[in-house]
Amino acid sequence: MQEYIVVEQSLELQGEAQLVGAKNAVLVIMSSLVLTAGKSVLTNVPASNDVLQMISLLESLGAHVIFNQETHTLSVDTTNVDRWQVNPEIMKKMRASVLVMGPLLARFGRAELAIPGGCLLGARPIDYHLKNFEKMGVIIRMVDDELHASCSRLHAQRLILEYPSVGATENLMMAATLTPGITSIVNAALEPEVYDLIEVLQKMGAKINIVSSATIMIEGVTNLSPVNHAIIPDRLEAGTLLIATAITGGSIALPQARADHLDLVLYKLEEMGHSVTIGENGRGVWFKATKTPRAVSFKTTPYPGFPTDLQAPMMAAQCLAQGTSIIEETVFENRLLHVAQLQKIGANITIKDNKAIIAGVDSFKGVPVAATDIRASCALVLAGLVAQGTTVMSNTHHWKRGYEALEKKLNALGAHIKFVEE
Ligand code: UD1
Repeated sequence: MQEYIVVEQSLELQGEAQLVGAKNAVLVIMSSLVLTAGKSVLTNVPASNDVLQMISLLESLGAHVIFNQETHTLSVDTTNVDRWQVNPEIMKKMRASVLVMGPLLARFGRAELAIPGGCLLGARPIDYHLKNFEKMGVIIRMVDDELHASCSRLHAQRLILEYPSVGATENLMMAATLTPGITSIVNAALEPEVYDLIEVLQKMGAKINIVSSATIMIEGVTNLSPVNHAIIPDRLEAGTLLIATAITGGSIALPQARADHLDLVLYKLEEMGHSVTIGENGRGVWFKATKTPRAVSFKTTPYPGFPTDLQAPMMAAQCLAQGTSIIEETVFENRLLHVAQLQKIGANITIKDNKAIIAGVDSFKGVPVAATDIRASCALVLAGLVAQGTTVMSNTHHWKRGYEALEKKLNALGAHIKFVEE
């Protein structure tokens, strides 16, 4: 049996949508609980497949986890965590599993894990994580296909990232919370999800400051306490819903959206001719699409630049806009795989190095397509909403990894999306 997502043309999405918590915040915050011994409670947790994988990972380390998917409440008791070997099957399915390395090293001085898997976005090495752990005194050996990391104790250091990697910043920061002395991370990533992690670590008792434009300073403490925390709303889900509304020519209210997490995305949507209204104190976005969108160009960069995770859906919208758009992917080396799929639907796109040059077309035509990563799956479903006829997308696991039933939210706005097995 193979599963497909089937999308029928669904114009003018209308209505209001509630947002779940950010997948990229919750995964790292769940990892950070390994730094504590006791019961923590996270709310606003999305029931996406990656979250379910992270639950399995924590359980395999000895945590007791209860997830109420109705209330989106996750309770994690880490009192009995007594293992540092990460299940290779989980590791290979989800790259974010590497984020337990820092907490395990801080708690046990040891971590054993396979090379991480996840989306195919180029080589995606973890060298920034490993080089800096070594700088902190960790000895890393390859044993068969696994990384075995150990240290008698971690040493505070000035750590310099060649690139503001989200995962490396988070991993090193978590390790540093229990490392005696002052660790600084220079050229750190400052995505909203990193801030959410900092807030959680501070609530646990960690001493963390952002001291200059992109340097995080962490003063090690001797122990951290369990925490209660509500995960920030998912800016990527918000962006996807806005772009879905833009492409279908509709209107949407997102009362929970954090406009300050979506600055460049909202700016580009307005540049296309869409209308954006922001609520008081930057809370809530009200959006009305123009019927005659203009093509805009952008390049992906670390936050607060245009997020790489919204590049694919935004590309789908440019394909049907008037004029020519140039989209440059600078964060990942291989994140234009969806171009070939959009071309099948009727897009006019030429690739030159890491740039997609898009000439707007009048319409899309529903055909069979295959998702190549989580965000590419969104681009294809969004394209399917405006394609004439039926779009059938395979590789549905990508969609399920990143979102909790986003198809239901879109259907409530007037979309026709369903899962079919055959
Ligand atoms: C996180 C997000 C992902 C998002 C990405 C960039 C999670 C779970 N995932 O991924 O959705 O697309 O940030 O915003 O939060 N790199 C190296 N060596 C390293 C680490 C990274 O070369 O050791 C490179 C990567 O290949 C990539 C760039 O640095 O080209 C940025 O990667 P990074 O910010 O680390 O992304 P992730 O943390 O994996």
